[in-house]
Amino acid sequence: MKNFVNPNLLELMPYKPGKPVEELQRTYNLDRIVKLASNENPFQIPENVKNKIREEIDNIATYPCSDSHYLRMAIAEKSGLGIDNIMVGAGSVEIIKMITRAFLNPGEKVLTSEKTFLMYKIAAIETQGAVSFIEAEMDSDFRFSLSNIMDKIDKSVKIIFLTNPNNPTGTIVDGKEIAKFIESVPENILVVLDNAYEEYVSRGADYLTGLEYINNKKNVIVLRTFSKVYGLAGLRIGYALGHPETLSMLSRVKAPFNVTRIAQNAALESLKSDDFKNKSYELNKKNKSLLLSQMSELGIKTIPSETNFLMFFPETDVTDLNDKLLKEGVIIRPLRAFGVPDAMRVTIGFEEDNDFFLEKLKKILGR
Ligand SMILES: Cc1ncc(COP(=O)(O)O)c(C=O)c1O
Repeated sequence: MKNFVNPNLLELMPYKPGKPVEELQRTYNLDRIVKLASNENPFQIPENVKNKIREEIDNIATYPCSDSHYLRMAIAEKSGLGIDNIMVGAGSVEIIKMITRAFLNPGEKVLTSEKTFLMYKIAAIETQGAVSFIEAEMDSDFRFSLSNIMDKIDKSVKIIFLTNPNNPTGTIVDGKEIAKFIESVPENILVVLDNAYEEYVSRGADYLTGLEYINNKKNVIVLRTFSKVYGLAGLRIGYALGHPETLSMLSRVKAPFNVTRIAQNAALESLKSDDFKNKSYELNKKNKSLLLSQMSELGIKTIPSETNFLMFFPETDVTDLNDKLLKEGVIIRPLRAFGVPDAMRVTIGFEEDNDFFLEKLKKILGR
């Protein structure tokens, strides 16, 4: 098989998501399982979105709109951009893969920070092998260090991914710093701002959405998703904002009909009101602050976060702690694969779910 396959794949560690609830249920036969592992929204989606999904079932014998036209129109209107500034994907992960396929040539590299979302590395390796991926050190506060990233730029760097806020650390970089960075990066390097968690950033923070660059910098792409604050992770839908010329290159690698009818229509319906988004933001803000203070009271170092999750350092063997939490019915994320082997990440859920996690954590750590 080794001589048979694309050799890049032999250098690839496949993405390993958090354990599914059903699998844990089968293994341990537990009464209650709380999953706080994948940064999903704890709320059920609004009734109007559910109804739209039900209605669309009658149409699934036919292919969806291949270029998500109506959804793009709605996003364009909401963001003050044109329809050609938008491309929709089956999750923003699909677009990350389109970006490396469209822009990463042999000998060129993807550059990002250490301790970030794993899909940039996977997409780079899949496209041009392990030599095509490099990462810069973070600063001591677990933030992307733009100066370390700048220092790594050489002629081979083609794509830079900036995750803001970052997963799994939850930190942001000031808008002013990112703006300065974008202005000074050579224009033959594509800068991708992955804003998957932008809706959770504290209102009033110095945060750069990047929209101001979309029509005047062909080398900037912004990624957003419906998987987090919109609560549509199970439908797989996200999008890119970019210059029409840049996105037209992505459309060359896009599979036809890549986003299902149900996903397109649910996303379109979700954009009709901000109530669900606001409710999700408020609950997350309240429960995040509560969980952060409860973790501090337990003496557990936890990094303040601008997202819907917290990274913490339990000061014990993380693999062992994770196994024990699973046996107690708690699924969170150990961060070895993200390059932080002594840390874990917990998604902010409803208060009763966070309490269940805390209770089990206390029991295991003997506090
Ligand atoms: C930083 C970041 N980008 C992108 C994604 C992927 O989102 P999607 O569900 O739209 O593929 C995630 C999901 O966890 C993420 O953490």
